[in-house]
Amino acid sequence: MQIIHTIAELRAALAGQTATTCVPTMGNLHEGHLALVRQAAALGGPVVATIFVNRLQFLPHEDFDRYPRTLQRDAELLRGAGCDIVFAPDERELYPEPQVYKVAPPAALADILEGEFRPGFFTGVCTVVLKLLQIVQPAQAVFGRKDYQQLQVIEGMARQFALPTRIVAGDTVRAADGLALSSRNGFLSDSERAEAPALARTLATLAAAARDGVKPLAALETEALQTLRQRGWAPDYLTVRRRADLLAPSDDERRAGVPLVALGAARLGSTRLIDNLEF
Ligand code: PAF
Repeated sequence: MQIIHTIAELRAALAGQTATTCVPTMGNLHEGHLALVRQAAALGGPVVATIFVNRLQFLPHEDFDRYPRTLQRDAELLRGAGCDIVFAPDERELYPEPQVYKVAPPAALADILEGEFRPGFFTGVCTVVLKLLQIVQPAQAVFGRKDYQQLQVIEGMARQFALPTRIVAGDTVRAADGLALSSRNGFLSDSERAEAPALARTLATLAAAARDGVKPLAALETEALQTLRQRGWAPDYLTVRRRADLLAPSDDERRAGVPLVALGAARLGSTRLIDNLEF
């Protein structure tokens, strides 16, 4: 496995390759990322994992500076998971001048849910992902369903810009107690870690109650928010949406079995966790 820091070296290493799969990450890897890399390796071609903590997708008060940079450990894990190349550019390499050209995803998808609480987040994500895909030029790129809205925004970008890269979704990996694996779990104290699976449990309760279409969705969502607040969380949103466009389903659509997803984001102490459950 090679560790490459410059675009020129990466392009040279990939010259002539037509079946590369890219797994974009911000590093501080866990089993969820490694599952994406194994999925990428199973596709057959060379696997390039990118590691870049993208300043453009952090708000000024967010954890850009404290986001762990663990390249050595990440590289060892990636080697074991079947990665061929780690592309780990520094900021000067990826943003040698201020990145003033940006991808603006549609407000209807990007300014709701995560985008409401993290304005500009998806512009930052799309801009860096487009740039990484331009650099790696992969046949496929794998993104986790854990970041459900991010996956949809990137799928839309790839479709609307006719990118020659197929976007592949990878399943969320969970700890035995149901907590979705996330780089941010490492910020949790022991007691917060014990509490953290309550987010997934609350989403499961919300999903089960939402399907029968009897009680108004708004009332169910309020109950879910209260459940977490009483347990000491500060939730941003807990909601049920149509999988297709992340808009609210009608009561009839709930009863008719339209594919839905429960999505949530909530802060536990100073750590913000997100999760989702399709149903
Ligand atoms: O999901 C992430 O880790 C990041 O948002 C991504 C896709 C690597 C872009 O920086």
